[in-house]
Amino acid sequence: MGAIKFFIQGIKNFKEVGTFSRSSHFVGKTMTKDKYIDWENAKCIVELGAGDGPITKQILQKMSPDAKLLCFEINDKFCEELHESFGHDNRITIIKDDAKKLGEYIRQAGFEYADAVLSEIPFVIIPEDDIIEESHRCLKKGGNYVQLHYSLVAKKRYERIFGNIEIDFVGLNVPPAFIHICEKQ
Ligand SMILES: C[S@@+](CC[C@H](N)C(=O)[O-])C[C@H]1O[C@@H](n2cnc3c(N)ncnc32)[C@H](O)[C@@H]1O
Repeated sequence: MGAIKFFIQGIKNFKEVGTFSRSSHFVGKTMTKDKYIDWENAKCIVELGAGDGPITKQILQKMSPDAKLLCFEINDKFCEELHESFGHDNRITIIKDDAKKLGEYIRQAGFEYADAVLSEIPFVIIPEDDIIEESHRCLKKGGNYVQLHYSLVAKKRYERIFGNIEIDFVGLNVPPAFIHICEKQ
């Protein structure tokens, strides 16, 4: 999807999209670092709020051939775009449904837990913690929940749910990004 089409989706659905521009390559590179996700052994990976797929693309590049990606997105236009770009890859399941149902879909896919959850849902403008709490519940012990934000204002919410968290900064994005890395203890 081009920058203008993404911008239009951002204007029309700001309460869900939370931004006017898609993530840069550098955001994806940071969120998918080897030190945050054990790509060799991860078999069930979950992405929440995939948009038109800039992070999805990098997750698929790093995943092993026998791993599965459950990719949640509620916006119709973004889902069409995800199907066009990645529908040929049999490792991905594109789920046009609310991310709060991730546990249900993980079980349906035949897994007990997710090895990693990557989220770009804009929780700064979504006050409920249900999706973050469900992600914590569905993660295996030692697995990471990796969340994109453009500020540190939501940091305390992750600390309450996960305990200590780590922050990685990405300057090369509009706006600059703060990646929250939250390990399940
Ligand atoms: C900040 S955009 C991120 C888009 C893309 N991943 C990127 O990094 O450029 C957040 C995305 O989360 C999606 N979203 C918001 N709430 C959601 C929910 N409850 N379930 C699934 N997707 C959701 C929005 O439709 C939007 O595409």
